Amino acid sequence: MAKDKTKAGGFRETPLDGSGTPRSSPPQEQGLEFSDSLVNMYTAFKDQVYNPKSVLYPSCGFDASPSKVFDNVTFVDIEDGNQGCVKKLQEAGLHAVNQDIREYKPAEKHDLLILENPSIPTEWASRHLKSGGYVLANNYHGNASWMNKHSDEFSLVGLINSVNDEAKIERNKNGDLGAVLPLESIRESRPLHHLMFIHSLKTGYDEGLPFKREAEIYIFTKK
Ligand SMILES: C[S@@+](CC[C@H](N)C(=O)[O-])C[C@H]1O[C@@H](n2cnc3c(N)ncnc32)[C@H](O)[C@@H]1O
Repeated sequence: MAKDKTKAGGFRETPLDGSGTPRSSPPQEQGLEFSDSLVNMYTAFKDQVYNPKSVLYPSCGFDASPSKVFDNVTFVDIEDGNQGCVKKLQEAGLHAVNQDIREYKPAEKHDLLILENPSIPTEWASRHLKSGGYVLANNYHGNASWMNKHSDEFSLVGLINSVNDEAKIERNKNGDLGAVLPLESIRESRPLHHLMFIHSLKTGYDEGLPFKREAEIYIFTKK
């Protein structure tokens, strides 16, 4: 069974042979993943917002989607649960490093940081970003909420969603996308997110509140 990444933050299990039934043969070696929706959203960002010179994608796993859009991407992964991903990326001719992002030392800071389900606190990676550089983050691990809360360091520029295979960018005009709802307002509509945010507030790890608008990708700049 192959993992076909179709959405930011999610995987769909799809048999490769198209039969609709899972195969019983031994699992195949994991290959690189490319998400059409992520590629569309990154393309919209590059065309409509900013064309970066140097991209950092920590905690990439097998997701090579940014390489379809951006020229100069550095993939960094410690291979904690995604064994072999760095070799696969390297075999595809991509610049990938098997390293803890806390040990990573770039020759020059990057001007775009991608955070997709990274399992790490934002600041472990954002210190490698230039002032004025951009972050494209999903909120599955609370990274976008964390940046929204730390408005002394980050500004919310906009949102990107993939709707019917088309990426739509919405700008944060007059701060209308940054306002947050009280946490209690999502207790019934999004019970799992509610629990996650309660937990993160307790642990302080991913502290932050939900956005007024949910999005697949949040665009921030670093001040
Ligand atoms: C949930 S996976 C996400 C993979 C990919 N971004 C995606 O959305 O499909 C998290 C990845 O973070 C990596 N990781 C965790 N801690 C890390 C660290 N300190 N430095 C670098 N990579 C790390 C793990 O090895 C794993 O591949």
